[in-house]
Amino acid sequence: MTEDLFEDQRLPWQEALCPGALVLRGYALPHDAALLAALDTVAAAAPFRHMVTPGGYHMSVATTSCGSYGWVSDHTGYRYDRLDPATGTPWPPLPPVFIQLAQDAAASAGFEGFVPDAGLINRYVPGARLSLHQDRDEHDFGAPIVSVSLGLPAVFLFGGPRRTDKTVRVPLVHGDVVVWGGPARLYYHGVLPLKDGCHPLLGEQRINLTFRKAG
Ligand code: SIN
Ligand code: FE2
Repeated sequence: MTEDLFEDQRLPWQEALCPGALVLRGYALPHDAALLAALDTVAAAAPFRHMVTPGGYHMSVATTSCGSYGWVSDHTGYRYDRLDPATGTPWPPLPPVFIQLAQDAAASAGFEGFVPDAGLINRYVPGARLSLHQDRDEHDFGAPIVSVSLGLPAVFLFGGPRRTDKTVRVPLVHGDVVVWGGPARLYYHGVLPLKDGCHPLLGEQRINLTFRKAG
């Protein structure tokens, strides 16, 4: 009977951060190989790059996108664009495994009917970080954000509606998925500088996939 003692420690399990925000531990684990293969296809068509912020800094995080809309930053500001400015062509399509995972994770978190049209891919190497921000370039705040962590662990900061609100530190590991929407849709969040390490599948990096309804 000992196995029953550990029943509730088995993956996946859910942790609420606040109303509208949930961590689905290990949710993406069964699909990690398929997600990484799809990621390679996207990155071959739309290479990772360090975008310039409106303030003139290069982001420490490298980004690329897939779907009808890609997230773009330059000296004029942040926006979604149908074309990749690096190639002048449309972003590669959202791979079916991305769409399915995003829909299923959103539904598990209580957001039925989520259909992403944008997949932003962030690549962190040790030292890379993402300062506190809101995801507010999307047109439809009725849809949640679905965020998938792969590779090295990271500490995700999750705050509130104001930049100065207290943040909680959420350790995220390979396969964890965070979903925020509804009352938490515009909450501030960020990622602390990535620590050194070597992940068996991804080496010295962390990949984060975020699925959005941008258009
Ligand atoms: C983001 O805020 O867009 C990414 C968050 C993460 O890398 O976990
Ligand atoms: Fe974000």
